Amino acid sequence: MGSDRTSIIFTLKNQIGGLASALRVFQELGINVLHVELNKSGETCESADVLVDVECDANRLDQVLRLLKREVQSVNYAAQVNSDGPPPTPLSACGSFDFGEMHWFPRKISDLDRAQNVLMYGSELDADHPGFKDPVYRKRREQFAAIANSYKHGSPIPRVQYTPEEIKTWGTVFRELHKLYIKYAVPEYLENWPELVKYCGYREDNLPQLQDINVFLKRKTGFQIRPVAGYLSPRDFLSGLAFRVFHCTQYIRHSSDPFYTPEPDCCHELLGHMPLLANSSFAQFSQEIGLASLGASEDDINKLATLYFFTVEFGLCRQKDGSFKVFGAGLLSSVAELQHAITTPEKIKRFDPEITCEEECIITAYQNAYYYTDSFEEAKEKMRAYADTIQRPFGVRYNPYTQTVEVLSNAKKITAVVSELRGDLSIVSSALKKVSAMDENLDVEKIEKLLS
Ligand SMILES: [Fe+2]
Repeated sequence: MGSDRTSIIFTLKNQIGGLASALRVFQELGINVLHVELNKSGETCESADVLVDVECDANRLDQVLRLLKREVQSVNYAAQVNSDGPPPTPLSACGSFDFGEMHWFPRKISDLDRAQNVLMYGSELDADHPGFKDPVYRKRREQFAAIANSYKHGSPIPRVQYTPEEIKTWGTVFRELHKLYIKYAVPEYLENWPELVKYCGYREDNLPQLQDINVFLKRKTGFQIRPVAGYLSPRDFLSGLAFRVFHCTQYIRHSSDPFYTPEPDCCHELLGHMPLLANSSFAQFSQEIGLASLGASEDDINKLATLYFFTVEFGLCRQKDGSFKVFGAGLLSSVAELQHAITTPEKIKRFDPEITCEEECIITAYQNAYYYTDSFEEAKEKMRAYADTIQRPFGVRYNPYTQTVEVLSNAKKITAVVSELRGDLSIVSSALKKVSAMDENLDVEKIEKLLS
């Protein structure tokens, strides 16, 4: 793909490190910087105007400008120019990230502040949204959008005083769904319910606060949540999962129809997703889909988003007695579709990523098919095999100590990880020896198989 020389002029924020933050945008996107020039007005470097010439095609310019606008006071000019300029200065070649045309992805958890492209709704509702003609509801949605749009990683999630009308809608949905969970939800879902009642206030007459659930999940599986104003782009949503961050809406559906919403809302998130994010095996499955998405092509992102859809949103698990139970949040938050899925066995097929990724995702009606595995472990194994087929010239690993994604792109980095893993394995191996001498129930063979 050819690149054009592009000139961008911007004004830095009046703060220390402003220039470094701005230039980091180019570095992280793998954009080659040819020339940098500061104005000579005598002002401090931190509030100066800057001219940057880069090698960048028209497709990527939008992305550059979008990210740059978050780091600078204003972007004043951007245009492509003839490429007969001075020889390139390979500034970005010195950086740790330079994979040509690969899509930018967050490398540290705070980078998620820059991966927040809301595709639909947010504070603007479409004409067919149940709340479109209700000015009070629309105003309310603007408040929720303001919380989400100003949220920064690490801050507590603002608490919301829900209105009696909102709590009534929540109670109606809660009551009907809860009856079905006992019968149809997977045991992994039900086992976390008592703790959600105890620590997060899951009750018919109380709409739980995201911050309380955030604290709870962090303790259980390391998952965190951050508020979001509406439908996030699949790429941004999946990249959050790579860091064990779940983007969560805080508003509730319109009260006129408690059993219909054209978009995710807090009933869907809190009742559908949260109980399973407290399960360590499911949490790991979710994170692995996220890790597979980092830097992936648009086509691969669409396929991963479809796999996410038919597992995390609409998945089923076959139980030992042959019956099907549900773990998909889309089903667990829809009274009608939950019953439909479970009573239509001809639609239930075995999960196979190669086939499932081609299935159509339906938003406004029931799915044409539902997919099952026998366990989360089976889903994970299949997803891992599928993720291996994604074209990427490196591997990625999440480092929970630094909350960063390590890009395993050379022998040195891989050796460092192996050395860390050896430490963990020797701990496991030593424990195995001690426990196997005392506990006859320990299936050493199974564990050895897992390790190999
Ligand atoms: Fe969802």
